[in-house]
Amino acid sequence: MVKKKACIFISGSGTNLRSIIKSSREYNFPINIRLIVSNNKNAKGIIFAKKFSIPYICLKTNRYNFEKIVLKKLIEKKIDLICLAGFMKILSKKFIRDFKGKIINIHPSLLPKYKGLNTFQRVLASKERLTGCTVHFVNEKLDGGKVIIKKKVFVSIKDNIKTLKKKVQFEEYRAYSHAIRKVFSLN
Ligand code: GRF
Repeated sequence: MVKKKACIFISGSGTNLRSIIKSSREYNFPINIRLIVSNNKNAKGIIFAKKFSIPYICLKTNRYNFEKIVLKKLIEKKIDLICLAGFMKILSKKFIRDFKGKIINIHPSLLPKYKGLNTFQRVLASKERLTGCTVHFVNEKLDGGKVIIKKKVFVSIKDNIKTLKKKVQFEEYRAYSHAIRKVFSLN
């Protein structure tokens, strides 16, 4: 099969990146990762780019320059899909418009609930019994684009931020690969 070309944007530990890399090595997974972009020079996830010999760039600059440099690379590498995986920078409306329908993100809640930051704290404070994660298309509204897939996680009364994060992230790894398969089987 001819695989689509993907770029993964990260800012932190990159465990979702690691999981997507693993899936992408399967013969019938629809994407190959051609580029990893980080806006943080100290992102732990860069380790995975090095380990799997995937080209990467780390850019600590303002949004305008960041997007200008990244856009050039994306065009050069003919990228079909951008996966945001713990990417903590807000992309400009123009960048999102230019890649309409080609940027997806993972969020650690069952959207539309708990958009934004500090999700686990808020879920626990609200005594939710059910939470999860959502992979969605990125549009101009924060965590507001069309949902591709959601996975549920039960919250135990014994959970704290650390245990809940672990449970949700476990589902995230399955969700992201599932969502990427779904994006290309819909096309
Ligand atoms: C994930 O929990 C994701 O939902 C959120 O940021 C976190 C990234 O974790 N958007 P990692 O860098 O993939 O380990």
